[in-house]
Amino acid sequence: MFSSVRVYYAPADYEGPPPGHWRGQTAVVFDILRATSTIVTALAGGYHSARCFRAVADARHYAADHARVALAGERDGMPPAGFQFGNSPREFRHKPASYDSLALTTTNGTRAIEAVSGARRVVIASLLNLGAVADFLRREPAAPLALVCAGSGEDFSLEDAIAAGALLEALNLSHPLTSLYAANRDDLPRVFRAAKNGAHLLELGLAADIDWCLQRDIYPVLPLLVNGAVLLRRARSR
Ligand code: MLT
Repeated sequence: MFSSVRVYYAPADYEGPPPGHWRGQTAVVFDILRATSTIVTALAGGYHSARCFRAVADARHYAADHARVALAGERDGMPPAGFQFGNSPREFRHKPASYDSLALTTTNGTRAIEAVSGARRVVIASLLNLGAVADFLRREPAAPLALVCAGSGEDFSLEDAIAAGALLEALNLSHPLTSLYAANRDDLPRVFRAAKNGAHLLELGLAADIDWCLQRDIYPVLPLLVNGAVLLRRARSR
């Protein structure tokens, strides 16, 4: 199914290679707490697209130049000044009438998406849509598969590696991360809370976001990066 599988664990891994490195690859991006869970929830909730920016200033400029685009995201877990929304996926369950799309900037998630934007396919993955991502990948033509864990600051993030392991298990691919997932699968609420991103969300009083992001397969949707915007492609039925 895939000519190779490589996992990128942190920014130094996915920002190290030259841009041409990603050409021809299928990149699956995980930022379970919370950016990719936010994108999945927003697109399932009715937003037409999410344009991802590494820099706050670029998101602001884009939103200022485009009608009906809401500014969303976080720095240090909180919405930057003047933003309409933060990065809590629960804020995006139902699209308000006043906006159609998001300009999203987050510490690691949008950084990872931007880094791999030259890939042949960029798939946005979370536990919320993991089954749809697995279904899609099973039907993809053979290509190198890159599992890109956004990380936490410059560090590895446990919840992203566990989610990558869950995807590998769903694809029946043998990998050390499938063992990591198997060892933790029955204890995910505790493990996510103890990990760096989860502990920070707890400090901010956002435990409900962790619980939201832990839900498995509530959205059968497939967000793909297309010409700079993440758009929904409904997963095909079996
Ligand atoms: C990120 O992109 O680093 C995050 O999703 C962090 C957060 O939402 O707190």
